[in-house]
Amino acid sequence: MSEVVKYEVRGRAALVTVDRPEKRNALNTQVRAGIQAAFERAAADPAVRCIVITGAGDKAFIAGADISEFEGRTPVDQWREMSAGPVFDVPERCPKPVIAAINGFCLGGGMELSLSCDIRISSTAAKFGQPEVNLGIIPGGGGTQRLPRVVGVGAALRLILTGDMIDAAEAHRIGLVSEVTEPAQLLPRAFEIAETIASKSPVAVAAAKESTRAAFSLPLEDGLRRERALFALCFASEDKVEGVRAFLEKRPANFPGR
Ligand code: COA
Repeated sequence: MSEVVKYEVRGRAALVTVDRPEKRNALNTQVRAGIQAAFERAAADPAVRCIVITGAGDKAFIAGADISEFEGRTPVDQWREMSAGPVFDVPERCPKPVIAAINGFCLGGGMELSLSCDIRISSTAAKFGQPEVNLGIIPGGGGTQRLPRVVGVGAALRLILTGDMIDAAEAHRIGLVSEVTEPAQLLPRAFEIAETIASKSPVAVAAAKESTRAAFSLPLEDGLRRERALFALCFASEDKVEGVRAFLEKRPANFPGR
């Protein structure tokens, strides 16, 4: 599909792999376009219920924006590049759940992309940071907004102001990742979580993602109203009829996704 972003479907999940290991999977123009295209493909395929994103090789998830592209770029070029449907919003906006399987350096824009994912798990080898202050810039892909929402303002500012890297144990302690596995177990575990999600009602899963995401974009009263509307929508779905019937008949549900 793209030389630098690989796409495959395993079971009911799509695997998106950023494949530039020699540059620590840094996000250049081609990688950003490849990720966008892979997510569009996964969103359009009804057989895909969940998306896993990872980095190729054993060193990096994504070591940030490609710094070599910064030189010679004007502020207006950079503004246009970043405001034209930024890749960092793609996982969050995707109607299907997205799991980041973080296998190594997860820095700058890589961290920001992971923060837009719904679930983050990491291997013991992962390292996390927002090193932008080392370059005289700040996070520009959502880091100052999404990181404090995930780990709280204190832990976020510690990373953003110092540029320090933290290891997987520390990332787990502050709630940046929900679990840490041995490197060899990372993708199997990500697919296990994906399969668990894939076994649920696709209607309910999409509604749950949209409703939970609204918790940070809407005032509470509007968010509660959105939740009730989505609840009512699920209540009218064939998936709800099947889910309730399967429970009463003591058998696994087979959701039609309608
Ligand atoms: N942009 C462009 N190239 C990058 C990169 C990035 N963000 N991160 C790594 N690379 C390149 C290196 O320039 C090097 O290229 P070369 O072999 O042509 O010289 C290659 O990837 C390997 O990097 P190297 O530094 O030798 O590997 P390492 O394993 O010792 O260190 C990092 C890895 C990620 C700690 C280090 O490369 C680094 O600090 N990268 C920058 C991270 C960053 O500041 N990201 C935020 C950008 S806003």
